[in-house]
Amino acid sequence: MEKVLVVGTGDVGSHLLEFMARQDYRYEVIVGDIDEEKARLLCNNAEIGAAFHGKHPVFRPVKIDLLDIEGTSALIAKEKPSAVINMTVMHTWHLIRKLPQDVYAKISSGALGAWLPCQLTLAMKLAQALKDSGVKAYYINTSLSCLTNPVLGKLGLAPTIGIGNVDLVEPGVRTWIAQQAGIARSRIELIMVCHHQHWVFPREAGYLPNAPYLMKIMIDKKDVTSEWDTDKAMYEGVKLYPAGLSFTTVSASSTLKNLNALIFDENLLTHSPGPNGLPGGYPVILNAQGAKVFSPKEWTLEEAIEVNKKAGQMDGIEEIKDDGTVVFADYTYEAMKDNLGFECKSFHPDDSEKLAREQIALFKELVEKYS
Ligand SMILES: NC(=O)c1ccc[n+]([C@@H]2O[C@H](COP(=O)([O-])OP(=O)(O)OC[C@H]3O[C@@H](n4cnc5c(N)ncnc54)[C@H](O)[C@@H]3O)[C@@H](O)[C@H]2O)c1
Repeated sequence: MEKVLVVGTGDVGSHLLEFMARQDYRYEVIVGDIDEEKARLLCNNAEIGAAFHGKHPVFRPVKIDLLDIEGTSALIAKEKPSAVINMTVMHTWHLIRKLPQDVYAKISSGALGAWLPCQLTLAMKLAQALKDSGVKAYYINTSLSCLTNPVLGKLGLAPTIGIGNVDLVEPGVRTWIAQQAGIARSRIELIMVCHHQHWVFPREAGYLPNAPYLMKIMIDKKDVTSEWDTDKAMYEGVKLYPAGLSFTTVSASSTLKNLNALIFDENLLTHSPGPNGLPGGYPVILNAQGAKVFSPKEWTLEEAIEVNKKAGQMDGIEEIKDDGTVVFADYTYEAMKDNLGFECKSFHPDDSEKLAREQIALFKELVEKYS
């Protein structure tokens, strides 16, 4: 039986366990979290629920602290999983919503890229642990992969693929087109290049409009792109989702779909962010060889990368240098300095953990101030 290592049983990780438990595919799942008791109880929940569906998944909860690269690497070397999935983060995206609306809005206008140290640190440590173990496994990174995967790529630690983002936008837009046209969604195909920015722009406060993207719409295999207002479709497709956290079940489905396509060699044409460390999201083909970007005749891979780099600048990150140094956009720097007291224009990933701790400490002070 294939073995998969999932680290992180928070919001998205716990949904993933429930979906894994009820599916027809079978593999052994090692489920790690720094909070072993939480992992154990969530594994129990998923296993018990699966019994109603006649499924008996094999879940094995373990304690993993990703800050301990050596310990994680030893576990990977011992277990030799076929795939490793990062579902951890030091400070998740929705925590800023705890703040009063006006304070949230000001910090949100710096974009999620502002929190890159918190999003990058654990994903990077797991990537390093996997590399050090010598085990060849697919690495799926859920942590803001439009922006973290390209940093990891510069460090020689590129994940195979990310999840969500474009893989939330694309099915939303496809569903909206089906609803507008009054036809079955199965008749519609979309090919899309877009960024996490396009997901958050309609949902969160203060994001900039007009981030570039590429899109091709086909109905019954015929190109009908010119018949649609694609800007409207991008916006309304995202607006189909409820506000709040409900969408993270879709993120978990995106993860499971990518995992199965890789380990069961499905040669699946789908969408996902950060293939092999590229910035932003693309149409990709997933099979046993890993992830490969699919480009239709309408655009080249180079054009798609440029589009995603520009969109990334509207998600807080001006540039990722060749040594992995991350340069924040000016408006991001200002928003974090003025509203959180976090003063940092650029950082090297070596300083990521220290800066993440600083961001978390400053955030706690802010929450206390307003509570
Ligand atoms: N692309 C998408 O569609 C999408 C959607 C939602 C969330 N995300 C991303 O997924 C990631 C997880 O988000 P979430 O909301 O589920 O987070 P969460 O805070 O709910 O869960 C994080 C988990 O990580 C664990 N953890 C923290 N430090 C650890 C350590 N040192 N070692 C091992 N485990 C540790 C925590 O105990 C927790 O269970 C984030 O990066 C988030 O931005 C992506």
